Amino acid sequence: MRRKLVAGNWKMHGLRAQLNEVEAIATSAAANPLVEVALCVPFTLIAPAAAVAGTLPIGAQDVHEAESGAHTGCVSAAMLREAGATLTIVGHSERRADQHETSHDAWAKAAAAHRAGLKVILCCGETEAEHNAGRAERIVQSQIEKSLPDGASPDWLTLAYEPRWAIGTGRTPSLDQIESMHAIARAKLRMMIGEAADGIRILYGGSVTAANAEPILSVENVDGALVGGASLTAARFVPIIEAAAMASARN
Ligand code: PGA
Repeated sequence: MRRKLVAGNWKMHGLRAQLNEVEAIATSAAANPLVEVALCVPFTLIAPAAAVAGTLPIGAQDVHEAESGAHTGCVSAAMLREAGATLTIVGHSERRADQHETSHDAWAKAAAAHRAGLKVILCCGETEAEHNAGRAERIVQSQIEKSLPDGASPDWLTLAYEPRWAIGTGRTPSLDQIESMHAIARAKLRMMIGEAADGIRILYGGSVTAANAEPILSVENVDGALVGGASLTAARFVPIIEAAAMASARN
């Protein structure tokens, strides 16, 4: 049984004034042991968030693939660990779009994070044009093929399927579409790493809210959610954690 993971991604949001939200989210996470919760905050908030988060894992949203060196503005996995992060997102579609990151970059970042002892949420997902052209399946298969790090295993790697056109738009695929894309991702993982694939969680991400979380989290092969906008406040995020707990209880 894969325990559901609900991970928040604060993106470029959050100052110390929002640490009360971190605390409230941590309280809810502790009250819902059926679900694993994590919060990925901006680099600058990792240490202060980790200081108030108790047992709630605090993560980063990106990491550099090198251990150190002349990389102005970048942050290494060891630095994230030292600041208090226990996981990081890699390959998010906003990094792919804004910083021109490739699946190969995501592969290198995931490997570097793992070497330093961080858990990894590896993102994949097609653009709207790719979706409309009927290429979603092939794009996601190719992204997984190019970015899945060596030695990928359930104890440190989680995959997130996030159709780019659903991120921050309020639009989500139908439940059938989500089911079919997650089945495709699972099959690709099986082809690449065999039975270990069955333990790897595949999160859905893109406009998850309290209103749609429970049906989405009940879809086969949806092992949790990666939540952007609706993770910024406890008032919006906690109902998603609770929906995940309900979906888990029914499984
Ligand atoms: P959203 O973002 O929930 O705001 O759509 C999800 C993500 O980018 O991880």
